[in-house]
Amino acid sequence: MTTYRYYTAVSLDGFIAADGDSAHNLAWLLEQPHEPGGPHDYDTFLAGTGALVMGASTYTWLLDHSARTGEPWPYTLPCFVFTHRDLPLAAPQVRLVSGEVATHRAALEEAAGGRDVWVVGGGALAADLAAAGMLDELLLTIAPVTLGSGRPVFPAPCDLQLLEAAPHGVFLTTRYAYRGVRSGDLERNRLADESSTLGESAAP
Ligand SMILES: NC(=O)c1ccc[n+]([C@@H]2O[C@H](COP(=O)([O-])OP(=O)(O)OC[C@H]3O[C@@H](n4cnc5c(N)ncnc54)[C@H](OP(=O)(O)O)[C@@H]3O)[C@@H](O)[C@H]2O)c1
Repeated sequence: MTTYRYYTAVSLDGFIAADGDSAHNLAWLLEQPHEPGGPHDYDTFLAGTGALVMGASTYTWLLDHSARTGEPWPYTLPCFVFTHRDLPLAAPQVRLVSGEVATHRAALEEAAGGRDVWVVGGGALAADLAAAGMLDELLLTIAPVTLGSGRPVFPAPCDLQLLEAAPHGVFLTTRYAYRGVRSGDLERNRLADESSTLGESAAP
């Protein structure tokens, strides 16, 4: 069975990118000293990955970064990009898709060929995948900064189970199992829906 893993760096206050100009919204991360190896070593993670899935903002950040630096598209793996736009293709293995995430599940898992799917981001896409039963783990590398605002790591209430946590250089690496939408919030939403329906039926 395919495992879906949301692997991302995050500020201590829960953002994966700062507000503003995309050229600088990851400066807080890129300026951190990076030590190879460690519990969530990128090369080891990538070796277990068969396909990537990301949203349009993440993809265009990578396109802009390549244009600025001259660095080539960094992935040889199949990459599904969710977008409503006709964006340029960075490589033949990039596939533009849209609509309900579940409708792409079979194609994504076939492309992954029995290895993991890397959910690259952003957070809303990760939450959509989770709601469709397409998220197993969150591997969050916490940087020693707060941003105050930005793009949230996971903008939906959910329960997680901590599986691992370890310091690595300036970072804290963590791995969580996704346990589902927070049950307390589901109950509160159900009660709120019921009371708004009652309010509507009581209206003249
Ligand atoms: N810290 C890290 O390690 C890390 C990791 C990943 C990303 N990032 C950064 O975080 C930011 C993420 O941006 P973001 O939160 O805006 O998220 P995003 O997921 O990258 O992009 C969101 C966009 O994807 C498209 N999209 C999402 N779901 C769709 C669907 N079902 N059908 C069609 N299109 C869909 C829409 O764009 P359109 O409608 O415009 O096409 C939507 O506005 C970027 O700056 C990225 O570089 C950081």
